[in-house]
Amino acid sequence: MLFLLDSADVAAVARAAALHPLAGLTTNPTLLARARRPLAPLLADLRTAVGPDLPIHAQVVGADVATMCVEAERLRDRLGAAFHPKVPVTPQGLAAIRALAARGFAPTATAVFTPLQALLAARAGAAFVAPYVARIDASGGDGPATVGEIARLFAIHAIETRILAASFKSVRQILAVALAGAHSATLPPDLLDAALAHPSTDTGVAGFLADWADAYGRDTTVADLLPDDRRLDPR
Ligand code: E4P
Repeated sequence: MLFLLDSADVAAVARAAALHPLAGLTTNPTLLARARRPLAPLLADLRTAVGPDLPIHAQVVGADVATMCVEAERLRDRLGAAFHPKVPVTPQGLAAIRALAARGFAPTATAVFTPLQALLAARAGAAFVAPYVARIDASGGDGPATVGEIARLFAIHAIETRILAASFKSVRQILAVALAGAHSATLPPDLLDAALAHPSTDTGVAGFLADWADAYGRDTTVADLLPDDRRLDPR
């Protein structure tokens, strides 16, 4: 499973891109609105923060197919070729996914809550479907089980559309969708950090460093103790 970041916080995106093996960035209208900045420079900063080549999934907000297609083109002008228009799985959205796929986009169907929505979006030409795991759980369903059903449907029907699991509130949900067959998951910055963190890792590393400092000195590195012999003998 690949890891994407779900954020429009430029500093958080830059930090995550530097530290984590990010496969892309997703945003949604709520995240962009939260930044309270003009859209064009915000998108430019997000592109810079994530790097020139990583895919960015950014959502359209229009109510009809023609408007959504124009929005996708404008977003691609700003974000470059590594861009996927996110389109909600409403009736108009489904038609827009079909139109965008015909125009050469690789759209992401978003706000997916059921396996049949995912199947319809895939048939319309979605390259990705984004089931909202935590929101499904919160509404009394089972988010990871829904991801598993989508994965089974796609396998049974030989559908190449990828599952981009979205909407997470816990590390447990992340592991569950990875086991259920999600190809990728988009996580908010705090959960991406939490997926890596473990208190025993911290205490283990602290113990190693304390033992090292006792023997070799607090700020001494391995390189300090191993001079570069190649400079003495270029062979
Ligand atoms: C999907 O791409 C959405 O941006 C997002 O994952 C929704 O998450 P939320 O339910 O935490 O708002």
